[in-house]
Amino acid sequence: MRIEDLAKKNGQTAQIQGWVANKRESKGLVFLNLRDGSGIVQCIVSADNIDEKLFQEIASLGLESSLEIAGKVVQDERQIGGYEIHVDEAKIIQNVSEYPIANKEHGAEFLMDKRHLWLRSRRQWAIMRVRNTIIFSIHNFFQKEGFVQMDAPILTANACEGTTDLFTVDYFENEAYLSQSGQLYGEAMAMALGKIYTFGPTFRSEKSKTRRHLAEFWMIEPEMIFCDIFQNMDVIEKFIQHVVAEVLAKNEKELNVLDRDLEPLRSVEKSFTRLSYDQAVQILKGQEKVNGQSTLDLIQKELQELKEEKEKLEMDNEERQHIITKGGIKKGKLAFLQSTIDKQKQRIKQIEEDQRNLPQWLESAKNFAYGNDFGGSDETVLTKMFDVPVMVYDWPHEIKAFYMKRNPDNPKFARGVDLLAPEGYGEIVGGGERETDVEWLKEKIIEHKLPMEEFEWYLDLRRYGTVPHSGFGLGLERLVSWICKLHHVREAIPFPRMYGRIEP
Ligand code: 4AD
Ligand code: MG
Repeated sequence: MRIEDLAKKNGQTAQIQGWVANKRESKGLVFLNLRDGSGIVQCIVSADNIDEKLFQEIASLGLESSLEIAGKVVQDERQIGGYEIHVDEAKIIQNVSEYPIANKEHGAEFLMDKRHLWLRSRRQWAIMRVRNTIIFSIHNFFQKEGFVQMDAPILTANACEGTTDLFTVDYFENEAYLSQSGQLYGEAMAMALGKIYTFGPTFRSEKSKTRRHLAEFWMIEPEMIFCDIFQNMDVIEKFIQHVVAEVLAKNEKELNVLDRDLEPLRSVEKSFTRLSYDQAVQILKGQEKVNGQSTLDLIQKELQELKEEKEKLEMDNEERQHIITKGGIKKGKLAFLQSTIDKQKQRIKQIEEDQRNLPQWLESAKNFAYGNDFGGSDETVLTKMFDVPVMVYDWPHEIKAFYMKRNPDNPKFARGVDLLAPEGYGEIVGGGERETDVEWLKEKIIEHKLPMEEFEWYLDLRRYGTVPHSGFGLGLERLVSWICKLHHVREAIPFPRMYGRIEP
């Protein structure tokens, strides 16, 4: 049976198949933490209970050895999952001698090379389960709201989001691209079915190594007829609130494994902040305060807090190190002290990184040139000013995609909207209202140096029964990263594809 169902067999015998996630021994007993993909359970093997040769073999099992066991299920609140198993029978499938990922800190590159194995670790397990909840809650939100799920092609002849980051493929001796976004097709499908959403892989050959960029990522793109930019923002807000609420309801255990502070997630149920680009720039540059605080005040306060936290951690680590050096402590306690020190060292490293970054970010925020797109650090500084996600709308049209509608009251601005996640995660949604005027669109297509003939079908949507419409694109991995509070988007997808990596 599956470990997550053990409660059903409380007091009875259960059979489990799985892998050794951890092992420790103590006089005549072996404690195995067995994992089977659904959970982890501690299995106690006693020398009194089992054939001696088999006991020796079990005692010699390495990490990730595979086996089957049977034994009595005993409730114990102190144990992971609330149960343990007193083993009566065991059958070893494979005894693994040197599992490459030991229970210690490994560098990121090493773990990425071993991604096919790394996925088995408890943290990755938790992330993938949250990702699963997010995917299904996205579908149930749109299905509940009357959207039809439709698929956009992946091989395409046109560039939706500009020509700089296209992957080209040979398409029967012609050049084609891997889709950057299903949006243009989404618009055609919305004209046929009213409210649609696509959910598929998208590709960008961005040659940048940032925490936010993948070369292959999954995007969810709803498109709605008779919807303006403000109604679009209402949908974005309701949608994100729904997904976060589902994760909070279903993944308490996983968020706990990830050490996720739940407060920032809970605050998503409050209304999101909406700022025009102009307002956002003023705040960013420190020319406008939010709740009596400027970006300068905020960063200075944060630097002070980081300094105090670092001092505390360093002192605590020193004390722990002192206890270790004195010696004479039990193995278990020693391991606990050491792992706490390692964890705290990790946090100190992160603080030091923030201490280096924050002043630079503040400097570039202050010097932000009006008319530019926000950089990653600008987004971070801006969102730190609020405890809810921020939607920035009405952007200078020059920096947005060709299909964006102009603000009828001020054509300097395009009716695009970006949703910026809190806690420094930046843009997770990009969208807006679509231009419906054929002449404006043609001008933009020329200005962006796009091949007009590839967009004729798209212009047809404006020639034959054009209606106001809007939509947006959510980057799945960006959302997973923020909800799980990951350091890097590469952990949000089973096998990441990014600049410099296509393996494993
Ligand atoms: O802002 P973007 O480029 O918008 C579009 O593609 C529109 N056509 C969407 C629409 O209106 N239907 O991308 C949308 C989102 C971003 O907000 C981000 O979350 C994600 O896709 N994204 C990436 N995620 C990971 N790696 C990358 N390289 C990404 N580029 C965009
Ligand atoms: Mg964008």
